[in-house]
Amino acid sequence: MATILSVSGSPSPVSRTARLLRHLDGTLAAEGHDVVPLDVRSLPAEALLRADFGHPAIVEARRLFEQADGIVVGTPVYKAAYSGLLKSLLDLLPQAVLTGKTVLPLATGGTVAHVLAIDYALRPVLASMGAAHIVQGWFVLDKDIAIREDDAVSVDVATQEALDVVLAQFSAALKDGRPRAAAA
Ligand SMILES: Cc1cc2nc3c(=O)[nH]c(=O)nc-3n(C[C@H](O)[C@H](O)[C@H](O)COP(=O)(O)O)c2cc1C
Repeated sequence: MATILSVSGSPSPVSRTARLLRHLDGTLAAEGHDVVPLDVRSLPAEALLRADFGHPAIVEARRLFEQADGIVVGTPVYKAAYSGLLKSLLDLLPQAVLTGKTVLPLATGGTVAHVLAIDYALRPVLASMGAAHIVQGWFVLDKDIAIREDDAVSVDVATQEALDVVLAQFSAALKDGRPRAAAA
């Protein structure tokens, strides 16, 4: 089975994106994958903002990307694009760090007007970093993610069904062992 890095790019301390990803991590783990969570907001802000490539926490994050077979990239939509926090980490990673990797892009947002942010904003960045296969992503409305008292989430039924489909496609792509050659 694959090693999956599950990256939340939300700066929020009460992030729906992060909670959604941790919820989905359980599904991927149940498929037999080894899932490693990474919340970018847990990395040192000084290192992210001042491009400290050599900071131990950044070096460790880079190692997690390099060792993963698959990567879930989750971001809130901010100003019609991915979060600046996510970009601040991506900018500190090698240009081709996603070479040979299968990537699942996910976004949460407040309006369906920005449902395409995954495709016009996030997907091109991931492709430029060499991702071998970017599977179909999904945009989840924030109102469809309810934070429960135990800090986990409940996801709207139709949304969960859609997420189950994209997770299954992601998992199948990883199991296929798609070519690890550099993307064009
Ligand atoms: C600064 C800021 C900008 C936002 N911009 C957008 C936007 O352009 N489009 C959208 O659909 N939602 C936007 N939202 C709503 C968030 O994307 C949405 O609430 C998301 O689920 C927040 O995720 P989080 O809890 O993980 O931070 C914005 C929220 C904030 C705080």
